[in-house]
Amino acid sequence: MEKNYKRTLVTCALPYANGPVHIGHLAGVYVPADIYVRYLRMKGEDVLYVCGSDEHGVPITIKARQQGCTPQDIVDRYHKIIKDSFSGLGINFDIYGRTSSEVHEKNSSEFFRKLYDEGKFITRESEQYYDPEAKTFLADRYIVGTCPKCGAEGAYGDQCEKCGSTLSPEELINPKSKLSGAEPVKKKTTHWYLPLNNYEGWLSDWILKGHKEWRSNVYGQCKSWIDGGLQPRAVSRDLDWGVPVPVEGAEGKVFYVWFDAPIGYISNTQELLPQSWEKWWKSEDTKLVHFIGKDNIVFHCIVFPSMLKAYGDGYILPDNVPSNEFLNLEGDKISTSRNWAVWAHEYLEQFPGKEDVLRYVLTANAPETKDNDFSWKDFQTRNNSELVAIFGNFVNRAIVLTHKYFEGKVPAAGELQDIDRAALAEIPALRASLEKTLEGYHFREALKDAMGIARVGNKYISDTEPWKVAKTDMERTATILNVCLQICADLAIVFEPFTPFAAEKLRKMLDVCLCAGVDHRKGERETVNTFKAGECAALHTVSAPAGADVAAMSASCPGAGKCVCLSWDKLGREDLIPAGHQLAAAELLFAKIEDEAIDAQLQRLATIKAEREAAAAAAAAEEAAKKIEPQKAEVTFEQFDAMDIRTATVLAAERVPKTDKLLKLSIDTGIDQRTIVSGIAEYYTPEEMVGKQICILANLAPRTIRGIESKGMILMARQGDGKMRFITPQEALVNGAQIG
Ligand code: MF3
Ligand code: ZN
Repeated sequence: MEKNYKRTLVTCALPYANGPVHIGHLAGVYVPADIYVRYLRMKGEDVLYVCGSDEHGVPITIKARQQGCTPQDIVDRYHKIIKDSFSGLGINFDIYGRTSSEVHEKNSSEFFRKLYDEGKFITRESEQYYDPEAKTFLADRYIVGTCPKCGAEGAYGDQCEKCGSTLSPEELINPKSKLSGAEPVKKKTTHWYLPLNNYEGWLSDWILKGHKEWRSNVYGQCKSWIDGGLQPRAVSRDLDWGVPVPVEGAEGKVFYVWFDAPIGYISNTQELLPQSWEKWWKSEDTKLVHFIGKDNIVFHCIVFPSMLKAYGDGYILPDNVPSNEFLNLEGDKISTSRNWAVWAHEYLEQFPGKEDVLRYVLTANAPETKDNDFSWKDFQTRNNSELVAIFGNFVNRAIVLTHKYFEGKVPAAGELQDIDRAALAEIPALRASLEKTLEGYHFREALKDAMGIARVGNKYISDTEPWKVAKTDMERTATILNVCLQICADLAIVFEPFTPFAAEKLRKMLDVCLCAGVDHRKGERETVNTFKAGECAALHTVSAPAGADVAAMSASCPGAGKCVCLSWDKLGREDLIPAGHQLAAAELLFAKIEDEAIDAQLQRLATIKAEREAAAAAAAAEEAAKKIEPQKAEVTFEQFDAMDIRTATVLAAERVPKTDKLLKLSIDTGIDQRTIVSGIAEYYTPEEMVGKQICILANLAPRTIRGIESKGMILMARQGDGKMRFITPQEALVNGAQIG
């Protein structure tokens, strides 16, 4: 059921401020949301775009402890890094707030208080692990022990990172507190719970009956939660970092991070629009859309809506919750702890001016329906053979030729031929498809359509060959270039959501501007033009009352008549740029990415992988070394006594030619001087052996090894990992002393 909304509130999952954002976050949440918002704004719609840092939760306290600083230091550091990464990529929220803000503390406390006063919570006493030395309750992450599933050491109370099993602290073998190392004890504690079970029927009607159009991964997860039966969920924790529970007898308790974080969306809206925030949250005319990653589905579709429902007071529910699957990196799961990621802030430093390339590749490869892979080779190919070779190449040829033949003035078109009409006719069709896919949150498909327009242009200019036609027919050349420039103008519109930096650069080359964006930053619904295009930006401030007719708006724009105004509604028209309009100089829209840049990235990842593998091998060897062989079958004293074990000294040593393992040793046994061939070359060099006192089995039957007669055997101790050491008497003895 399509509703007629008047405005759209778009939220993006609030990233945890305990680390920078990486390409997985960008592809899953922020790039698609940004495309959507830019698109709606170009259509003149009233959009509010809200995000911020999620600054509570146990991982932040753990990180602070590891780094010997306060949780506040951690969130201050990452809040800034994350915020800058977003704006560096052209992701400009109307507000990027913080859940450590005063507004949020006040707002989330008030939210809790109302539910509490109205009896919407239940309390439960439970036994939780407590650290008797540190005198504090322990979050699951603060308890470590042996994994009951795979036997790995250092598994957390909620998860084993080795085998990936979800655990509860009770299951850990030999649990220890991470804080003090003490053995945790169970202690009673009371918490508030939201009885989700009371909302089951309502959720089922709202989602399972009412939102069958949601993406199948989202719908499917909701269905399995609801069908599985919902349980009351704790909304508080025993912890010293978070929003304090604002009721008596709640000392040492804070909100569970997943209780306060989504309220952060509301707090951040309040911070931005203290007077008018309610119309964004409490009006049926507002379309609410949450962009999230798949691990957030239950919180945004089940828990937060139940909180809002419990609160009442007109809060609206999301119209859609587009959620992506995960992005892998070079075939491996992205992992912050293993440093297996491409970090946004590092990318921006290493690829200046290539913000759009990342946006493009992450969209073209978005994990919309299944997990997907990011590879640097694919990144390079998409840049070089799509952005450069198709989009950039087309635009460059059109503008350069216009300068060459017409002094940079848009030439007038003569009569159109079939090939011209056919090319132009493709654009409205692609636009219609693109609008449909974007409105259905299918961003990959939408990008294909946008790229389709560039392909149309590139093919058209290749087929019509204006550089050849110019030798004989300037009139026809004029028509061809006019058509090309109209298509360039289409690209300057249609790529604004996807590659906003390139779109703006293209508008500068064409000397046109973009109208009909709505800017809320100035307060209520108001003025326009979030889009700036050089000089004429100053001319473009027109008011856009709700439900405004965008076409009329552009026409009444004070810049109209003085400059060429593009807007989404004009996309696909054949008269976007009038004849005679002077273009600016051509510049390259995209630059080729060379192998060196890609190799450097691959090298970096290879080093990380090699380090990880070396660490894993070292850990495995350490484990193996500890492995003790079971005792051998019993022997009699006589059997043992039959063996003649003696002290001896190595007089000379050399490698046995053409072998890796064998040393030929000349030994003084006290009885005689003889040769023993021993497989210890992996562990000792000949030089190391000379002069060493060792123990030998003297009366072992001689054997010929590689043509050398070996008489006896050197006694070695061997560990589980294969490491061997010879045995030396604790102080020097004569050679030939008997052992036994
Ligand atoms: N910080 C969470 C995450 O990164 C997302 C929180 S979204 C919010 O998974 F709704 F709770 F804010
Ligand atoms: Zn495990």
